[in-house]
Amino acid sequence: AGAEPGRRLTLGFESLPGSMTDGIVVPEGYTAQVLVPWGTPLDGRTVGWQQDMRMTPAFQARAMGMHHDGMYHFALDTQHASRDFLLAINHEYIDQGALWAPQGGPTHKAEGARPADEARTEINAHGVAIVRLRRDDEGHWAPVADDAHNRRITSATPMALAGPVAGTPWVVTAWSPEGTHVRGTNNNCASGYTPWGTYLTCEENWPEVFINRGELTADQARLGINGERGRYGWESANDGEQGEFSRFDNTPQGDDPARDYRNEARGFGYIVEIDPYDPDSTIYKRTALGRFRHEGCWPGRVVEGMPLTFYTGHDSRNEYIYKFVSNKRWQQSDANRPGETYDRQAIGASYLDEGTLYVARFDADGEGEWLPLTVDAVIPQGEHKGQRLGELFEDQAGIIINTCDAADLMGATPMDRPEWGTVDPQSGMVYMTLTNNSKRTDEESSASFTGDGSDVSDMGSGYATAPVNAANPRPDNTYGHIIRWQERHDDPTRMRWEPFVFGGSPDDQDATNPSGLTDLNAFASPDGLWFDERDNGEGILWIETDNGLDKGRENAVANMTNDQVLAVVPGAMNEEGRPAINAQNQAQLKRFAIGPNEAEVTGIFATPDRTALFINIQHPANWPAADTDDATQTAQGQVRPRSSTVVIQKRDGGMIGV
Ligand code: FEO
Ligand code: CA
Ligand code: CA
Ligand code: CA
Repeated sequence: AGAEPGRRLTLGFESLPGSMTDGIVVPEGYTAQVLVPWGTPLDGRTVGWQQDMRMTPAFQARAMGMHHDGMYHFALDTQHASRDFLLAINHEYIDQGALWAPQGGPTHKAEGARPADEARTEINAHGVAIVRLRRDDEGHWAPVADDAHNRRITSATPMALAGPVAGTPWVVTAWSPEGTHVRGTNNNCASGYTPWGTYLTCEENWPEVFINRGELTADQARLGINGERGRYGWESANDGEQGEFSRFDNTPQGDDPARDYRNEARGFGYIVEIDPYDPDSTIYKRTALGRFRHEGCWPGRVVEGMPLTFYTGHDSRNEYIYKFVSNKRWQQSDANRPGETYDRQAIGASYLDEGTLYVARFDADGEGEWLPLTVDAVIPQGEHKGQRLGELFEDQAGIIINTCDAADLMGATPMDRPEWGTVDPQSGMVYMTLTNNSKRTDEESSASFTGDGSDVSDMGSGYATAPVNAANPRPDNTYGHIIRWQERHDDPTRMRWEPFVFGGSPDDQDATNPSGLTDLNAFASPDGLWFDERDNGEGILWIETDNGLDKGRENAVANMTNDQVLAVVPGAMNEEGRPAINAQNQAQLKRFAIGPNEAEVTGIFATPDRTALFINIQHPANWPAADTDDATQTAQGQVRPRSSTVVIQKRDGGMIGV
């Protein structure tokens, strides 16, 4: 049972030992159901998924995409919010082996022209799905086929640019000579939501689908645009209409940017706002929140009459943490009216198109500063010391296109690959995972950003090697860690931070396992994060892990357990510089669930009544079992793996985790 008011919440389940079985493991008394796996039709007229089906562009455009990642729920009415809602979910990238399994793999994967219909299918397997989910009286969940809200958004769906970059020469293309629109959202990783009822989907590893055969521009080099062939070779497909595939090739074709697609990739790297309640609504890329490999976007504490804050992070080695603070102050009259259709994007524009973008510097004394990325910001260091950012980048659009370079100039702290954040809505405490960093050294070395664009895994790009710093203190940070900070509410430029927990292996010496983790809670590569507020104002911080593929799994923790979900009751800041979770209190941290082989666990929320916890299983090797939706079952023989949502519930219908 949950704790009484004023008493510490206690976790009411036994921490799980590690598992390397090819099914989900949950505590005694819990169930796990597979829901909306890749290829589930959103449309009752379409024939259903079959293990041996040949995927087509048309089917994929009306079915769940691949590689489920960030997600959020949107109630249709408050009364039924815990049993009937719209799920908005990202499809981060694709597994070409599973996608093209019936034909033995993709055609012309590495060289030669990809068949247009294969490229179209792959483009349609990316993006976002909106799908209505409903629970029956027996506790079984199912998608509502043909619901009017069901929608697929892909890497080809037209959308509008908004904020400083919209309508500028930076984003002029042959398809949008005014620089106002772009086709598609790509490599949508983590997510966010707004208090006015919209979904935020975040563009992470998009640079890898673009190429430029000429000289890379500064932003292309920094972010990792490829030189010869994109991640899937889409640019090689025989062109359809209006640069359908050639837009992925950003090589200049002459002097006029309105005649080619040299700027196409500059329409990517943003926080993208979707109104899930209106399937006909325009989708906006909110450029004011910066342009980089955005992992996700997390709203800060919402207070009437105060500006709104959104936290974001750039998931590449030695990149930065950012926040955006709206000019407009929150008014409760803008709050979501569940299920109603009205112009939420106008409300979105009023908060997300005008405000200040900041980047974080974490100092050794536990203080932190938010450095503004504005035309008037004065560069505090280096060869441009004393100049304003506007002198180097001209205007805010120039700063946004080159967000990372502007952040370098302001002296931001290079981090160990920022993944998810989350905010305790009562205290405003912000948590962020720093998943790992193979390019962190204990030696002084100068950062030089010379991206080679060769890393096409989901492991972050990462260009420079950087020395350790207070917030990222471990050289070659294999296990990752989580930090947290508290804003100074009277000053948007100040915060206090501390290390929260360090990943580690119980096999390691104390010094390399500073949080004292044991066989029952050891983790590596923290990624997903969600603060689950309970009625008494306390909450559970849920942590998900992603040790990636292949080499990423070569660490002591990934050798003892598959990727997992942990729960922790976080407690207050200790202000002592040691991790909040340490040898004295690590029993607060328990392993709650474990995923199938080779999969990461990502995406997380619970229903408002906390009786159902939703997670995603991404890039499984041979899961789920084909003839059951029991997520704990192991597949018999070789199956076509399908990323899936999993809903975890208690057999007695009680609250999760307590
Ligand atoms: Fe797509 Fe940074 O995880
Ligand atoms: Ca992933
Ligand atoms: Ca992630
Ligand atoms: Ca990850």
